Amino acid sequence: MSASTQNVYSFVSGKNWKLSLAEITTYLNARGCEFEVSEFSRSFFTIKTKTPLNASIIDDLGGALKIARVVAFVPTKRITDAFLEEDKQVKKQLKFDFPLDGLAEEMPRADSGKAVFGVSVYWSDPFFKPAGRAAQRFLGSAIKNELKEQGKKARFMGFPKDRNNPQLTPVEVLKQGLIESHSEALLCIGEAETALGTTIAVHNPFEFQKRDVDKPVQRKIFGISPRIAKIMVNLTRCTPGKVFLDPFCGVGNILQEALLAKARVIGVDVNRWCVDASKRNLRWVTQEYSLQGADYAVVQGDARDLRRKIGEEVDCIATEPDLGPALREVPTEAYAEKIVRSLTPLFQEFLYSAHKVLRKGGYLALVTPYVRTRSGKFVTIGIDGLAQRAGFEAVKPFDEVEFVGEAVAFPLKDLAAFVDLDERHKIGREISILQKT
Ligand SMILES: C[S@@+](CC[C@H](N)C(=O)[O-])C[C@H]1O[C@@H](n2cnc3c(N)ncnc32)[C@H](O)[C@@H]1O
Repeated sequence: MSASTQNVYSFVSGKNWKLSLAEITTYLNARGCEFEVSEFSRSFFTIKTKTPLNASIIDDLGGALKIARVVAFVPTKRITDAFLEEDKQVKKQLKFDFPLDGLAEEMPRADSGKAVFGVSVYWSDPFFKPAGRAAQRFLGSAIKNELKEQGKKARFMGFPKDRNNPQLTPVEVLKQGLIESHSEALLCIGEAETALGTTIAVHNPFEFQKRDVDKPVQRKIFGISPRIAKIMVNLTRCTPGKVFLDPFCGVGNILQEALLAKARVIGVDVNRWCVDASKRNLRWVTQEYSLQGADYAVVQGDARDLRRKIGEEVDCIATEPDLGPALREVPTEAYAEKIVRSLTPLFQEFLYSAHKVLRKGGYLALVTPYVRTRSGKFVTIGIDGLAQRAGFEAVKPFDEVEFVGEAVAFPLKDLAAFVDLDERHKIGREISILQKT
C-alpha cells in the first residue's frame, strides 16, 4: 500500500468475516467502483477505492459493523516495538507518526461540557491483543492532551471492566453521537501496517431488529435474519431498478431487503399464507421506510415451475428453499445423507426452473443445507454438480478482487461457498453464488 491515505477505508467485519468481505467486494464491483484490498483478517479489511465512498453505504450492507476513513499508516512493527517491547523512544515518536492534531481538530469544542470521544482498536491476529489494549489507552490520553492544547475539553470514553476487547460497540457509538462529532478514533493493527482512522459510519442494529421483530407477520423457525438476507441480496449484484426474485419467499425477509435496495421485487411461495404474509410485510416496509415508487408482487406458485408464473426475465435471484426437518438431535451421518437425498430433487428441479427465468449472466444466491452430524462431518447437497447440470457456473467472488501488498489472497481465491452456522444449529446454511451461463 502506498503511503497515500486518500480514499482508504477500514471496514470492521460482522461475525462471518469471509461472507462480509464477499458482500463488500461484490457490492463495490456491482456499482463499478474500482478498489483494491490491502489487508483482510477476521476482524477488519483495508480497502482503497478510486473515488470516495459515501458513509451511507453501511445501511446497504448486512456484514459491516463500522467504516472508518483512514488518515495514517504506520508499520505494525512500530506498534509492537512500542507496546510489546515497551520501547519508550518509539512510543514517544508514535505521537508524531499519527496526525492526532488533525483528529482533534475535527472533534467538537465541549461548550455544553458534554463532549466525549472514544478509541477502538482491532487487530488481525490475537498475538496483537496486548499491544491493542495498550495502544487504546495510549491513543486516548494522547488525543486528550491534543484536545487540551487546542483548548478543548472532552471525556475519554472508558469501557466496562469486563469488556474483553478495547472496542466500542456500534450501539455505544450511536448513543454517544460519535459519528456526527467525528469522535471515534479507530486503530486497525494489520500484519504489516496499522491504520488509524476516524469512524464515519456504524451499523445500526436497531433498524435490523425493527425489520426482524416489528414487521406484521413473523415466522421464527424458518426466518432468515435481515442481516443474512441483505448479504444475499448484495451477492446477487442487485442494484436499483433490477428485477429481483425470491421463489421460496416465506414471509418475505429476503424480499424486504431487495425492496430496500430499490429493486423491482417478485416473490413466489407455494403456500397461500406465506404469499399474504409477504405482501403485508412488504407493505409495512414500504410505509416504514417511505419507499417512493416501491414495486413488488407476490404470487402463489411452485418454484419448480417458475415460467408459469413469471412473465418476464429477472436479473437476480436470492432464495432459501426448504432445508430439511427441524431436528431435535444432531443426526447420524446416515440420517443426514438421507435428509439431503430427499431434498435433492427439489433443488435440482428448482435450478432448471430458475435457469428459465433468469437472464443470461444473471446471479443466483442460494442457501443449501449444511448438516452437522455426530461424527463431526458436515453433509451437504453438492450444489455444484446440480447447478452445472442446470446451466449455472459456481462464482468465486474473490476471483476478480485485486489483493495488494500483504493481502495474499490464496486462502480466499478459490472460495465458492460460505457457511453460516451457529453452535446451536443442527442444520446450517451454505450460501453459494451461481451465474447463468
Ligand atoms: C425456508 S422457507 C423460506 C423462508 C424465507 N427465506 C423467510 O425468511 O421467510 C421455505 C419456503 O419455501 C416454500 N416452499 C416449499 N416448497 C416450495 C415450492 N416447491 N415452491 C415454492 N415455494 C415452496 C415454503 O412454503 C416456505 O415458505
